[in-house]
Amino acid sequence: MTVEAFAPAKINLTLHVTDQRVDGYHLLDSLTVFADVGDRLWFSPRKAMHLDVDGPFASGVPVDQRNLVWRAAELAGWRGHVRLEKNLPHGGGIGGGSSDAGAVLRAVGSMPADRGLQIGADVPVCVMARAARMSGVGDHLSAVPGLPELFAVLANPGVPVATPQVFKRLKKKDNPAMAHSLPRFAGITGFVDWLAQQRNDLQNPAISVAPEIGTVLTVLRALPNALMTRMSGSGSTCFALFGSRAQAASAAKELSDKHPTWWVQDCTLS
Ligand code: C5P
Repeated sequence: MTVEAFAPAKINLTLHVTDQRVDGYHLLDSLTVFADVGDRLWFSPRKAMHLDVDGPFASGVPVDQRNLVWRAAELAGWRGHVRLEKNLPHGGGIGGGSSDAGAVLRAVGSMPADRGLQIGADVPVCVMARAARMSGVGDHLSAVPGLPELFAVLANPGVPVATPQVFKRLKKKDNPAMAHSLPRFAGITGFVDWLAQQRNDLQNPAISVAPEIGTVLTVLRALPNALMTRMSGSGSTCFALFGSRAQAASAAKELSDKHPTWWVQDCTLS
């Protein structure tokens, strides 16, 4: 019997870096949501592990223990054939391998989400795969119900960014967290106004590693009807928010016509 799973793109609407632990890991405070675009996986139990990768971003993806899918299956004590359809750019700040690992633990695992931390800091929130506030090093999660539905364009210039390098460029580690209680949001306008006052503390360090990210943000900001723009995770994917899916779709079309080498995708976030 084959089981299918979806590994949605993870978007950090905010990413505040609030401290650094003695082991070097950073403490975060991040409002994280998930897109209706992502990778797909199919699982068929067998005696041995085997991983096949296809899809637009299959090139260069390892098909052995280096792949987080493999490691998540091992952690779950599951063996078999996995087909991974890689639709998301890797090294892109939108989950990639972490979301794939999260999908494995959801589909064939039965352990608490925080066990996923062994595989990566973003894995527990990706096991949850719904709007959450993530703090600690990614191990403290609380669901954030009642967010307005958001419409976005995701854009990636094709420059993979190594997360440790970005953290290294961050000079100030003790930045303010988000407010203790998040406000109640009546609609998208109030939410976007609040969001615009929050930050991704990794954005400027990432731009210093990959200046193309700065270009993407400038171009996104200039799209018709764009409400706000920011980078996700440690980059290089950035997002712009819109009031409707139709606006996001037409902005995505305009953007991919102008920048045919970029990965551009409209989506709904929840
Ligand atoms: O856990 P993950 O493999 O995604 O993290 C990649 C790297 O990013 C870590 O090795 C670490 O250098 C950095 N990182 C960090 N603090 C976090 C998450 C990641 O310093 N909370």
